[in-house]
Amino acid sequence: MGWAATELSPLSQQFVDFAARAPGPVLDLGAAPGLASAAVLAAASTAEVIANDLDPSLLTALPAAGHPRLQLAPGRFPRELRFAPASLGAVHASSVFHFLTGIQIAKGLASIAHWLRPGGKLFVQNASPYQTPFAAFLDDYARRCAAGDEWPGWIEHTRHYSSHRLLGQMPKSLHLLDEKTLARSAAAVGLQVERAWLYRRPDCPRELRLDGRESAALIAVKP
Ligand SMILES: C[S@@+](CC[C@H](N)C(=O)[O-])C[C@H]1O[C@@H](n2cnc3c(N)ncnc32)[C@H](O)[C@@H]1O
Repeated sequence: MGWAATELSPLSQQFVDFAARAPGPVLDLGAAPGLASAAVLAAASTAEVIANDLDPSLLTALPAAGHPRLQLAPGRFPRELRFAPASLGAVHASSVFHFLTGIQIAKGLASIAHWLRPGGKLFVQNASPYQTPFAAFLDDYARRCAAGDEWPGWIEHTRHYSSHRLLGQMPKSLHLLDEKTLARSAAAVGLQVERAWLYRRPDCPRELRLDGRESAALIAVKP
């Protein structure tokens, strides 16, 4: 399942800052090991967090498990999660969308748009195509973009493009997303894109570093 962040990324920090004053509970998708969830709980004495992960054992092992303002919601996003319409103040998905196909991302974004309260925000961070292990994919990626492919960064078999030594720690299939794809897919479900950009998170492993664009990020608001 790749790497969890070892420090809060600038994107996750923006989620924490917003979540600390958001009305209603906030949802942390693929939350383990729980860095962002714990930071929200610590940032405001009233903040309520719903931590999700497909692996229930990772959730019960969260350092914040048992916290009175933390609710655990195990299940595979998007198909196993249900929340009331307009009930969530914010949603965070850091290093989770790259495990999903395009159809799953589109369905997931539609669910998130349904769950967010008006004024609530979505914060996404994802692996971009601009990473050293996938440098050999970039020509195909550019061709797919030029051809108008809706999901140009989907890699069915990562071993076709990479023999990098870290490949064994990555899923067989991987969805590398850029800021344009994130913005387009969020806008398609009625979210207003506040910002979509590429950057290098400070704890990006040295082996992944290519040119400073290793992560894609999105902040979008429910109108
Ligand atoms: C690379 S870790 C990222 C953890 C954390 N969000 C971060 O940014 O450090 C990915 C986590 O997402 C979980 N995950 C992967 N696919 C998921 C899905 N479809 N629904 C819920 N959780 C998922 C994994 O079990 C894993 O704990």
